Amino acid sequence: MPTTNTRSTKTNRSSSTRQSRANTARSTAKPTGRKTPKAENTESNGHSQLEKLFTDSLKDIYWAEKQLTKVLPKMKKKATSAELKEAIEEHLAQTEGHVSRLEQVFNLCGKKPQAKKCDAMEGLIKEGDSVVEETQDGSETRDAGIIMAAQKVEHYEIATYGTLVVFAKTLGMTEAADILVETLKEEKDTDERLTGLAEGNINQAEERETDEENEDRDEYSDEEEESEDTEETEKEEEE
Ligand SMILES: [Fe+2]
Repeated sequence: MPTTNTRSTKTNRSSSTRQSRANTARSTAKPTGRKTPKAENTESNGHSQLEKLFTDSLKDIYWAEKQLTKVLPKMKKKATSAELKEAIEEHLAQTEGHVSRLEQVFNLCGKKPQAKKCDAMEGLIKEGDSVVEETQDGSETRDAGIIMAAQKVEHYEIATYGTLVVFAKTLGMTEAADILVETLKEEKDTDERLTGLAEGNINQAEERETDEENEDRDEYSDEEEESEDTEETEKEEEE
């Protein structure tokens, strides 16, 4: 039935033309700013996932800060230099403040403060313990090791708080972001202070080494002079 076939082909053609015009109109239409229900759904899903990630990270760093309030006094005991002891002492007071700030952020989220074991911080603390065990009590090397361990902790905290601030801002939690920024600043200041102490510690160790080398050299030349004198005396006696 050729007539029907032709009609059908024509109908198909005109239908596909209409479709293609509709597609073109859709693709050239200016965005209205209104989101489709699907896009809105995806966005709210992403929002609640970010919220979960935010509270999980809060629990993680809350555990870490609480652990540090127990670890810092031990580190202070193991340190030798007065400046390092003082820096640890001051950071301990700050860390107690960090714990309270996190509790405020939990409250702002409408959640009870809850700690979740942070594997990364546990590892960093263990590493710090090993450094202390492997170095001599009262040595500059031990102080250098403590500074290194403390800086690793600070860098972990800086990374965490930096991310938490961004998350809070994205979630529209301005007050929480402001609180977290305060802690972030203190972590950065502590890191800088530790860098200064590390440089001072290394310089001191170098100076000490140079002094010891010089003393050794002086002793050696004194001994050489003495033995030359003895040889000369012996020769004179033989003559
Ligand atoms: Fe902290």
